Amino acid sequence: MGSEGNIRTLKQNDLLSIDQINPLIISQIFNLASQFKKTPNQNLLKGKLIALLFFEPSSRTFSSFSAAIKRLGGQTIEYQNPAQTSSLVKGETFEDMIKVFSSYVDAIVIRHPEKGSAKKAAEISMVPVINAGDGVGEHPTQALLDAYTIFSHHKKLSSLKGLIVGDLVNGRTVHSLLKTLSLYKGNEIFLLSPKNLSLPKEDLARFGKEIKINLISSEDEIPKGLDFWYWTRVQQERLTKKLKIPYILRNELIEKYASPKTLFMHPLPRVGEILEEVDSDPRAMYLTDQIKNGLLVRMGIMSLILKS
Ligand code: NCD
Repeated sequence: MGSEGNIRTLKQNDLLSIDQINPLIISQIFNLASQFKKTPNQNLLKGKLIALLFFEPSSRTFSSFSAAIKRLGGQTIEYQNPAQTSSLVKGETFEDMIKVFSSYVDAIVIRHPEKGSAKKAAEISMVPVINAGDGVGEHPTQALLDAYTIFSHHKKLSSLKGLIVGDLVNGRTVHSLLKTLSLYKGNEIFLLSPKNLSLPKEDLARFGKEIKINLISSEDEIPKGLDFWYWTRVQQERLTKKLKIPYILRNELIEKYASPKTLFMHPLPRVGEILEEVDSDPRAMYLTDQIKNGLLVRMGIMSLILKS
């Protein structure tokens, strides 16, 4: 549909970036997510057909979109790895593929390794496009489920203090989460990363206007009692050199710096950054609330976009 800039409603619109939306739309999504928690099976998407085009590996995002649509009575055409299994192999262009799918379905959910690809698809598509991750760009639905997880525990998205750890250059979930937090007042974030994976200067300048940002490079600098810790992995598939994050979320660190209200979050997959000993901690959200909320928030988003 090619909708860029601020939108007033998600109805029949693309969701490409957090830049497009505002706290009002976010609270509509959260309200729906809370309703779906109580009554999970509804027929709001009955008769709707949605294409899931995933050009990059995915387990959670792919299956939670699929589950969200089906739980709402909709149907899906699912394409994982189309670059190897569709007519793209025969040389068909991305543009033609999107054009064709957009005449079959009511919306397209797309994941692609290239930044800007969801926007490119939206410019061609005749139906709404939802960005499920575009390279190092954004992952808006992940940020919304992360924000909903924080909101459901702390009852606010303003005046929060949080820690974000890991690959801040290539981690699209971090970019979208920072954008989401910058829509609210009084947030303060500590960014912990090795120098070569720290948040790019232009992002710092941009987010620094709305969020108080503190750059730290050692675990010893983590302040006590933050509202959340958000860990991420190195996006190794986007790097030529093998890199490792020297910070591990473990009980020893929790005992030193966390408080009873600190939430431990990760978009997953984790590849060693969180020790399994943390999993049973009730503050660990990555295998529980974040997963459940992913389904509910995506149900909210799809129903807002496609409701009649
Ligand atoms: C994230 C992604 O794809 O950006 N995963 C996800 O969707 N939950 C994070 C990652 O791959 O590290």
